[in-house]
Amino acid sequence: MNNIDYAKEKICEVISGSRVPEDPRHADNTLEWLLRLEPDAGEALQLAALAHDIDRAIEEIKVRRTNFDDYDAFKAAHARHGAELLRPILSACGVAGDIADEACRLVTVHEVGGDADADLLKDADSISYFDVNLPLYYQREGWSETKRRSLWGYRRLSARARKIVKNIDYEEEVINRLLREVIHDKSAQLYGC
Ligand SMILES: [Fe+2]
Repeated sequence: MNNIDYAKEKICEVISGSRVPEDPRHADNTLEWLLRLEPDAGEALQLAALAHDIDRAIEEIKVRRTNFDDYDAFKAAHARHGAELLRPILSACGVAGDIADEACRLVTVHEVGGDADADLLKDADSISYFDVNLPLYYQREGWSETKRRSLWGYRRLSARARKIVKNIDYEEEVINRLLREVIHDKSAQLYGC
């Protein structure tokens, strides 16, 4: 097994410890969406896709929403902490320094994007929220929190990713209704596109 595959295995092992039931599937699914959006995605980007939410996997030290008034500040701290956790895993697996640096940088910016690879990661993550997380999030959090989270996620999608999300069909009709409300919410419209 090469160093990259070894690191991917270790990342999945850590994420399997998350108490959030959708986390392992979301990690795999974000990587799958990344490769659908960009079949030639590099190794650093693939590692970042798998590891971007690794902060949530370790209950004792994860960044907690309740410690932040502002949702974006919470998400930025979550992303920074994820990169801090990823770094020693990549070193222990012998991943080359430049690939490790780039994977950690991408995890740090995965919520906001900002360059071509970071934007791809943000899209893959956001599509995957709608693809696999949303129904479980709804079960746990209920209508109004799930709608808030989904609006936040929908606003950060590129036009290309929005087309993909618009075509998702859920088993539960209530989730389809929630998605339609999010899509038609005026605050979620793309300006100038
Ligand atoms: Fe995520």
